[in-house]
Amino acid sequence: MNNNTLIYERLYTNLERLKLTKISQILDNYLERANKEKTSIIEALDYLIETERINKDETSLIMRTNVAGFPYRKTLEQFDFTFQPSIDIKVINELKTVRFIHNKENVILLGPPGVGKTHLAIGLAIEVLRNKFSTYYINCHQLITQLNKAQYENNLTTKLKTLSKYKLLVIDEIGYLPFDKQGANLFFQLISKRYEKNSIILTSNKSFSDWGEIFGDNVIASAILDRLLHHCTVINIKGESYRLKDRKRTFAKIAGDRK
Ligand SMILES: Nc1ncnc2c1ncn2[C@@H]1O[C@H](COP(=O)(O)OP(=O)(O)O)[C@@H](O)[C@H]1O
Ligand SMILES: [Mg+2]
Repeated sequence: MNNNTLIYERLYTNLERLKLTKISQILDNYLERANKEKTSIIEALDYLIETERINKDETSLIMRTNVAGFPYRKTLEQFDFTFQPSIDIKVINELKTVRFIHNKENVILLGPPGVGKTHLAIGLAIEVLRNKFSTYYINCHQLITQLNKAQYENNLTTKLKTLSKYKLLVIDEIGYLPFDKQGANLFFQLISKRYEKNSIILTSNKSFSDWGEIFGDNVIASAILDRLLHHCTVINIKGESYRLKDRKRTFAKIAGDRK
């Protein structure tokens, strides 16, 4: 074996060991091209390492998005803000910087069904993921079921710890179903554990004055709200359901045709 072959083999072994898989894939072709084009060594190194970095970032984003467990994936770019003029775009742009994550602040999205609360929560969470922070999405009802189960199995401390470690926790759909006493208590424990440590995005179809009813207890509801609202951006969406938009147009057309 000549010296070049040995170097070549060692290079590939090292690329594999260092998990530089993208460089490993493109190296042969790239070297040939770089040789023809007389690319400088510094340019060649920069190209290879930059390509590897981009690939690693993309893979990591895909993995963290899978962990997040969104019910659907929709970005802020896909949100039509002209349809929902009650939303202040400046507030959304500020949240998009993810400073609220650095500052361990919360976001609460309120409004009737179909106005885009879940879409915005997911869109913001995707921005958080793009900024390399861990994120987890959970529907409120599932959350309470999981916490109840953990308590029943004597596993509550571990479960609360796991749910507290994410930089962002999205809790969707508070208020669709009422809490029982134990559910309200477990929810309070989670909010207390995350308070001033990590951010929460929460959505609800009920205004804060109805939270006593949701939690079945005014004292616990105000203790929860106190912690959530201490450092929080509240977005109150007052508008029409996007889900009904097309249906309304169809109804209007049918009504028009009948005239
Ligand atoms: N302003 C909007 N622009 C684009 N799509 C929207 C908008 N508002 C809602 N949607 C879409 O309508 C559907 C319902 O919105 P969603 O966020 O789930 O509503 P909810 O407020 O009930 O959580 C989703 O498919 C969402 O992507
Ligand atoms: Mg929703």
